[in-house]
Amino acid sequence: MENKIDILKAKMAEAELGGGQVRIDSQHKKKKLTARERLHLLLDDGSFEEIGKFVTHRSNEFGLEREKYLGDGVVTGFGTIHNRLVYVFSQDFTVFGGSLSETHAEKICRIMDLAMQNGAPVVGLNDSGGARIQEGVVSLGGYADIFYRNTIASGVVPQLSAIMGPCAGGAVYSPAITDFVLMVEHTSYMFVTGPNVVKTVTHEEVSSEELGGASAHSVKSGVTHFSCANETECIADIKRLLSYMPQNCEEQAPALPYENSGNEKRVVLNTIIPQNPNQPYDMREVIAGVIDADTFCEVHKNFAENIVVGFARLAGKSLGIVANQPAHLAGVLDINSSAKAARFVRFCDSFNIPLLVFEDVPGFLPGTDQEWNGIISNGAKLLYAFCEATVPRITVITRKAYGGAYDVMNSKHIGADMNYAWPTAEIAVMGAQGAAEIIFKKEISEAKDPKAKLAEKAEEYIAHFANPYRAAERGYIDEVILPEDTREKLIKAFKMLENKVAKLPRKKHGNIPL
Ligand code: HXC
Repeated sequence: MENKIDILKAKMAEAELGGGQVRIDSQHKKKKLTARERLHLLLDDGSFEEIGKFVTHRSNEFGLEREKYLGDGVVTGFGTIHNRLVYVFSQDFTVFGGSLSETHAEKICRIMDLAMQNGAPVVGLNDSGGARIQEGVVSLGGYADIFYRNTIASGVVPQLSAIMGPCAGGAVYSPAITDFVLMVEHTSYMFVTGPNVVKTVTHEEVSSEELGGASAHSVKSGVTHFSCANETECIADIKRLLSYMPQNCEEQAPALPYENSGNEKRVVLNTIIPQNPNQPYDMREVIAGVIDADTFCEVHKNFAENIVVGFARLAGKSLGIVANQPAHLAGVLDINSSAKAARFVRFCDSFNIPLLVFEDVPGFLPGTDQEWNGIISNGAKLLYAFCEATVPRITVITRKAYGGAYDVMNSKHIGADMNYAWPTAEIAVMGAQGAAEIIFKKEISEAKDPKAKLAEKAEEYIAHFANPYRAAERGYIDEVILPEDTREKLIKAFKMLENKVAKLPRKKHGNIPL
């Protein structure tokens, strides 16, 4: 008996050593943690239960039969984060560079199947040289098995992908299907084809970091939602992000205890909007003034900064916030900001997270670049995402709500439950100057002083439309409110909407303009 226990203990120790101490040291030298160290940081102490610890590959090609490692390059199992169940896989770069074999893929699929059955999130820590080259097509098949499950699980359980090393070739498509991607600066990269192939095909010289590092994907492509300074920060971000989400699509996100202080007024909100309507301000100040202190978790912070999206808490409850950002490109809607916000809205709606919109938008960005690259279909994504969202939805118009962008930004016409406006709101077809130029064209051109005439007519338009009252008369705005009362109004309105039931007509699925 003792001998058998010793055998088991030896096997456990062997599995825990992955590809061996030399490779572990090499991993550390690259400022990377091992697969197990990452899980230790991620999960509540002592909560990790491993599945498939002794699994090995089945390949007999290229001498692989002589090189087997217990666990085969991925540590899989379940545990808890803040006492909530989560399924995890963590690729072990010390074993064949974390490359994906048939059995490695089977282990990942197993925990994804369990996550779907039992309704809990999947967190994947990716650090892999891609397909196990010696295994050929069975490895590709393994990837496809994972992609399929990522897709089927989408909208059922939250899926998070942290990229903590290489992620190249078709392997990138698993993280890309998941809900949130986090990358570690300088030690991770993602690309479909690496610098060598790029050089051969397009003659461009580019480093891995420039091509597919955290900076490239957080600023330029938007593939990653979070760019993290190091692995510890990345893991902390995963935990924080999960705290705003329910376990699955049938549940509500957990609420934190909240005691009403009796004074929800926030006078700071009264002075954020500048006198001059063309002067920018930071919408994050409005957000911070309304939500519970220090609860904003911004998503996609460095990408399409003309729109701000992220999770927050209001009276302890989880919310998704979408807000135009006048401090960047005047808060205009363009291709990237529309796609960014659309994906976020759809995530929130999938997982029963109510939506709060702050609106200050001068319209859609004009230009050939935008038109030829599809502002029409991309703007339509955001419109579509709001239209089909059935969670409680509230909009606060802080300043401009111009043109089609007024409709798109969660107007009541497309299903928002409540729309509030601040007295500084301007709800109109367009800005006063542009409007005056069109409707008083003749009068202005015939005037002795066309400039003065234009200014006079623009003033007329402002007096008529640059306010929230025309929309309020129609009931498009439910109430014009003092900025300082916004927080209290929103707490009450979201409480009122807590039991909202809204159903879409029966269909297989819609056809969002992708
Ligand atoms: C098998 C691999 C491997 C792979 C790395 N290794 N990638 N083994 N299959 N894909 C092994 C190495 O042989 C080495 O083994 C160990 O992992 C560490 O690799 P190094 O090269 O020493 O590490 P490093 O210098 O950090 O470079 C990492 C790397 C490089 C950039 C990932 O290894 C690399 O370029 N690997 C090949 C990447 C690739 O072309 N993969 C296929 C992509 S196509 P030892 O024994 O020395 O420790 C793909 C298609 C997916 O993935 C399609 C899905 C649809």
